[in-house]
Amino acid sequence: MIHIRNHQEIELIRKNALMVTATLTEVANFLKPGITTASIDKMAEEFILDNGGTPSFKGYHGYPYALCISVNEVVVHGFPGTYELKDGDIVSVDCGFYKNGYHGDHAYTFAIGDVNPETLKLLRVTKECLFLGIAQAAANNRVGDISYAVENYANKIHGYGVVRELVGHGVGRDLHEDPQVPNYGHRGSGKRLQEGMVIAIEPMINLGTRDVYTLDDGWTVVTADAKPSAHFEHTVVVRKGKGEALSNFAPIEAAEQANTELNSSHWLAHAVV
Ligand code: MF3
Ligand code: CO
Repeated sequence: MIHIRNHQEIELIRKNALMVTATLTEVANFLKPGITTASIDKMAEEFILDNGGTPSFKGYHGYPYALCISVNEVVVHGFPGTYELKDGDIVSVDCGFYKNGYHGDHAYTFAIGDVNPETLKLLRVTKECLFLGIAQAAANNRVGDISYAVENYANKIHGYGVVRELVGHGVGRDLHEDPQVPNYGHRGSGKRLQEGMVIAIEPMINLGTRDVYTLDDGWTVVTADAKPSAHFEHTVVVRKGKGEALSNFAPIEAAEQANTELNSSHWLAHAVV
């Protein structure tokens, strides 16, 4: 069943989506080569709890952590652990924040240090896919219009693999609600979008082929060809006839930028010494 949210509900979801933004901004400031993915999860979980929320993912179908942290060829649902980030990695961080009966759900893929240009382009294009999808999340459009916009840009224009096994979704009182929002499909197909619907749009785009498989832990999804994969996600409302992101990349991008400059000045200082 698809839920239509009223103004008050939308504002509660917006607050939570922006708390995910705040959490991912903390992550952006924290990232550097040498830290473990478990340390990112710990920091984020403390931040969420300190702000009166609970991590939406922890315990969801038995998922054991606050964040999904997916490095390089890991597409989504990577477990935080002892892996230490290194220069040239990309790391997708997906986070949910639950408070007052509603969820926010939002993800960003970060570059660690010097990432090769081919992979940086994958990050840029995947982010653009998300915004093309949001532009289609207009009242009276259909879910397939979002799906087509993402697939067309990622695959037809850029030749990337579009993951099909995982999809975006309605989000609200439950983390995953109707409708499903695939990143591939046909224009004019699927459920009609209506004022007050809240959905998570989340393109998962591979540098190589679209094929993926799940590791024996039952969660970690990796590319079959071991090439990198990117993931960007916003919680989006259909409001005033248009798709409007409730979460926000701007603070995350500002922190990412500042952190990159800080880390490169460290390198410079080392080089001088
Ligand atoms: N944003 C992801 C999704 O919507 C994260 C879910 S992780 C889970 O599928 F652990 F909660 F399943
Ligand atoms: Co999601």
